[in-house]
Amino acid sequence: MVTSAHPLASQAGLEILQSGGNAIDAAIATTLAISVVEPYSAGLGGGGFALYHGGKQTEALDFRERAPQAATANMYLDKDGKPIKNASINGHKSVGIPGTIAGLAELHRKHGKLPWKTLVTPAIRLAEQGFPVSQQYLDALGWRSKVLQQDPEASRIFLRNGGLPKIGTSIIQTDLAKTLASVAEDPNSFYNGTVAKAIVKDMQTQGGIITESDLRGYKPLWRDPICGPFRQFQVCSMPPPSSGGVHLLQILNMLDDGKLQASDWHQVDHLHKFIETLRIAYADRAVHLGDPAFTTVPVKALTSKSYAAKRRKEIDPARAKTSAEVQATTPAQLKESQETSHLTVIDQDRNAISLTFTINLSFGAGVVAKGTGIVLNNEMDDFATAPNTPNAFGLTGNQANAIAPGKTPLSSMTPTIVLENNQPRLVVGAPGGSTIITTVTQVILNTLVFDMDIKRAIAAPRLHHQWLPDRTRIDRHGFDPTTVELLRKRGHKIEETGSWGNANGIMVLPDGSLEGSADPRGEGTAMGY
Ligand code: GLY
Repeated sequence: MVTSAHPLASQAGLEILQSGGNAIDAAIATTLAISVVEPYSAGLGGGGFALYHGGKQTEALDFRERAPQAATANMYLDKDGKPIKNASINGHKSVGIPGTIAGLAELHRKHGKLPWKTLVTPAIRLAEQGFPVSQQYLDALGWRSKVLQQDPEASRIFLRNGGLPKIGTSIIQTDLAKTLASVAEDPNSFYNGTVAKAIVKDMQTQGGIITESDLRGYKPLWRDPICGPFRQFQVCSMPPPSSGGVHLLQILNMLDDGKLQASDWHQVDHLHKFIETLRIAYADRAVHLGDPAFTTVPVKALTSKSYAAKRRKEIDPARAKTSAEVQATTPAQLKESQETSHLTVIDQDRNAISLTFTINLSFGAGVVAKGTGIVLNNEMDDFATAPNTPNAFGLTGNQANAIAPGKTPLSSMTPTIVLENNQPRLVVGAPGGSTIITTVTQVILNTLVFDMDIKRAIAAPRLHHQWLPDRTRIDRHGFDPTTVELLRKRGHKIEETGSWGNANGIMVLPDGSLEGSADPRGEGTAMGY
């Protein structure tokens, strides 16, 4: 079974499974297809993370973007040290070295079954034949079209006469099809060949800083996944440079106080505890999390049951704290001994992959490398570009996530595999920047604690708090007004907003059958055979 954010991408993965491919093969084909049909979410010009479970092993691959060698800590500040508006968001200077193709090639080298070229074929076909503009495409364009208008390549491919295309218009990507054809022959062409040359030429003419040597030097990294017990399950997720795994486990540990039960869903005391838990976890995130090659991340301490128990005690059951009252624990106290797209595949041998990848904001940096069709990321904005200055997701950070050459910007992506008896039980993930961690947490709680099926668990109304800004977002029309009023009385600043996140996942039922679903907030699907 394959679940992804677009039916044409799920179909591409399904085709590969039906032709004898394994979960990794299908995930590669789906990832490349998403890169074509969701050009605003993720693609060749970005990067991501994958969690894989095969046999008895769980592995994590980091193919996230890295800062170019010429990057500096103050590259987005003016001469007075103030952030330059949108400098880390729009245009070539906001681009990190892309990792998607290197990551997929590495997954294939280690675990692939079908020939690499076969896996690229569906994406080439989709780029040549086009995909129809949907409401989701228009929503993504809506707030980025002004930026895209500045870039002749992006405008030519994704807009029509500088404006929004009509629903149903076919988006044909001839340049991207050629790039994919080069990559099908040799994935290294992206890093040390014709595609690399085109990207570097574009950087040189448009004020970017990525060089040939940056691309040649890019390497995906296998990392030890973060796994921890939650009830009878083992929850495995992405370690730093994602904050996803650390805080998913921290939040689950804090909530698992021995009393949490199925009837607690959207019950006021549980919601209060949940919001206060998120406030603490995201305060820790702002201080402790960053690329482990550059900063010491106290992973073991933050994910320990004893730390969760200690911080749980700080929650006042009757009153919401303000975020100013809640701070990260200092490293000394911790005593450590140390717009995005998601897809999920489980194959007939029960190999499972959970893969989240991104170009960061909608249409990334809003630019396309000339002649390649590649939408370039603006992942540099995921660094703390200035101390305690919110990024596009409102997240703050400091030294642990400051810019440095070769460093990986901190992520919230949380591709997750929950195991029971060392076999996949739930495979899940989501897009949504800072909200990814809370979305994945709520899907896990909804399925494994609140006894929902996967469809209901993903569709259920969600909330989100991230310490700063000090507010709780809730899905509009998703919460009982009396409960909301009771939360407000305890001091919670609640804001009803439009919905967010576009999760998908697959659950293995006790009889061994698969149940998959994609978020009704998006246009994705589950497909199996
Ligand atoms: N670009 C969003 C994230 O990685 O968290």
